[in-house]
Amino acid sequence: MEENYELLESKLKHYLSLYWLRPENGLITTFKSKAFENLKIESPSLDLSCGDGMYMAIHLGAEFDFDFDFFKSTKAKEFSHSKFIDIYDVFDKNYEVDFVKKPSMQIDYGADWKQAMLDKAEKTKVYKNLVHHDNNKLPLPFADNYFKSIHSNSVYWVNEPDKLISDIYRITAPGGNVALELLTPHRYETLVQLEKFLSHEAIEILDRKRRANTTGMREYSEWKEIIENAGFKIKQVNSVYPDKLIMDIWNIGLRPIAHLLIQMAEALDKEDRIRIKEEWVEIFFKLFKPFLKINTSYTIDNAPYLAFLLEK
Ligand SMILES: C[S@@+](CC[C@H](N)C(=O)[O-])C[C@H]1O[C@@H](n2cnc3c(N)ncnc32)[C@H](O)[C@@H]1O
Repeated sequence: MEENYELLESKLKHYLSLYWLRPENGLITTFKSKAFENLKIESPSLDLSCGDGMYMAIHLGAEFDFDFDFFKSTKAKEFSHSKFIDIYDVFDKNYEVDFVKKPSMQIDYGADWKQAMLDKAEKTKVYKNLVHHDNNKLPLPFADNYFKSIHSNSVYWVNEPDKLISDIYRITAPGGNVALELLTPHRYETLVQLEKFLSHEAIEILDRKRRANTTGMREYSEWKEIIENAGFKIKQVNSVYPDKLIMDIWNIGLRPIAHLLIQMAEALDKEDRIRIKEEWVEIFFKLFKPFLKINTSYTIDNAPYLAFLLEK
């Protein structure tokens, strides 16, 4: 038990170092990784909507060089609250990933609909093959009964998640395991509460069009039905986060000023950037470490994110 806690603290440190200008992301990714700590990844394996591969690299034990900085490759200058863009959807040809420790294993396939994300993921060497695919387009470009293990923390970004889950069933081998992190409407309760006090404009700054863009939110009972109708057996389901405090921190966090923090960091020379980052990460590590031990108050019915372990 104690050993697991130490591992979790070390994960928190590494995720905080990676996402240093968005410390709330460092906190939530630690819980994401914890939710799937017992996941067995057997070959052939797939990470559907793998993004830039950074989350999975640390999940699989990688440690990045402290000098490696995720925020050096963004379009932060082009962002404003009236002109919403994905500032991470960019690949700079000088982008290199420096590891102190490589991930403990490789996943056979990573897939995503953003080429820039796949280009970054390629640098992590977490995936043997990378596939450019929009999950709204079905069937997925994989054979029936193929994968022994599938992970996805992004199924809910599509318009019809029920159809996607049925197709994930099709590509899973009999007896294969599937790990899905799914979203419920409880994710935005912080914003609903703040709506009573803040102006529409202030809520828009905090929301950043997330609610309008997340079409695949479902309650637990609806996910259960979708999953069972697809044919899967539910082996386990847990709340990814223990308590609403974590969601409150994440729904506010440094998101509103992230594009400015990134530009400020860009103006620093290498030495200052590393010195400030070190102290910064230490402060957030002290602030967030106690959350790793708090009791779970969310239930399956009011959890904002659910970690499902399924079997075909
Ligand atoms: C929250 S990120 C998670 C990325 C990665 N799994 C991680 O944990 O860092 C969501 C990912 O889903 C991808 N995505 C969103 N909609 C998609 C779609 N329709 N088809 C494929 N990928 C999609 C995005 O490009 C992004 O990489």
